Amino acid sequence: MILFNYYFELFLIVHARYLLAYKCHECQEMIFNYSITIDNIPSPTRDDCKIITAENGCSVYVGWFDDGTSAVYYDVDPDLPFDSVVAKTERKVTVWSGEYVTNRFISYNCKPSNITPCNTVDNIKLAIISTVFPTDEQIQKFDTLIVPTTEFYGSLCLQVSNMTYCPKTNILSCQQCIGIIQYFQQIDICAMCPAGKAVTNFLDYYTTFFLNNHTQLDRITLACRKYGACNSIENIKRIKNTLITKFDFDKFFQSTASIIKSTTTILFMMFVIGLLHTDYRE
Ligand SMILES: *[C@@H]1O[C@H](CO)[C@@H](O)[C@H](O)[C@H]1NC(C)=O
Ligand SMILES: *[C@@H]1O[C@H](CO)[C@@H](O)[C@H](O)[C@H]1NC(C)=O
Ligand SMILES: *[C@@H]1O[C@H](CO)[C@@H](O)[C@H](O)[C@H]1NC(C)=O
Repeated sequence: MILFNYYFELFLIVHARYLLAYKCHECQEMIFNYSITIDNIPSPTRDDCKIITAENGCSVYVGWFDDGTSAVYYDVDPDLPFDSVVAKTERKVTVWSGEYVTNRFISYNCKPSNITPCNTVDNIKLAIISTVFPTDEQIQKFDTLIVPTTEFYGSLCLQVSNMTYCPKTNILSCQQCIGIIQYFQQIDICAMCPAGKAVTNFLDYYTTFFLNNHTQLDRITLACRKYGACNSIENIKRIKNTLITKFDFDKFFQSTASIIKSTTTILFMMFVIGLLHTDYRE
């Protein structure tokens, strides 16, 4: 009898740990030949989706591509800060064809606090309705900055760095100026002309919104190939001032409140059922 109790308790402990482990939805990337909106976000219920245990947390991401297609991805343990919304705008031009494209992305990254996954349709919806991307018109203002030209002298690129990791300039083999500025608790700059091929010129504006303390991290990367120092700090500041993505924390949390209320009710009911169950056993 004692032995039975021992195993039973062990079972309960293991079972509880299993229940308390982080759970996330995981699916293969879903591609759509239309633009996803908050009204048609696919839920993670397809055959290839499963609920799996995560080490750190979950993520759900929507990407909108220039050709009108979209992608949705439910992921586990992505390399992104949890309790955050990440928004990215990217404008790039293929050097040989001169073709420009704009892509936009939003991801919601979370740590599940209970047994249900947090990378849900509801949460990515909240992230989308709280985010305002720059318009196409605003983005196209910088097309001349990244226009591919044949006149290029790598030695004219701006070369400064106070970023922890910044590639070295290689005048002999570089094909475009790169400028990266990260605005967070401090400003970090990395400007150089690194070795390597330049298939596209681009600008990339990446913002992380931290939901825990309502702060944000902006990171802008500019890759241009022009005569002169197109990767100047002034040019990147101009991008920052014009192409900022806005995130409404209040809207996000106001809309979250109603969802949490119903989750709390469910948890309370589970607790009550658990108590009844215990009484019955004894
Ligand atoms: C989009 O995909 C659906 C189903 O995969 C297909 O039936 C439809 O013809 C496609 N539409 C376009 C415009 O490619
Ligand atoms: C890096 O350089 C910029 C521009 O000179 C300066 O504003 C910033 O404070 C510097 N950051 C650090 C970490 O030294
Ligand atoms: C806000 O939260 C992020 C992520 O936890 C952290 O890295 C950052 O230092 C915090 N900022 C402030 C001002 O507390």
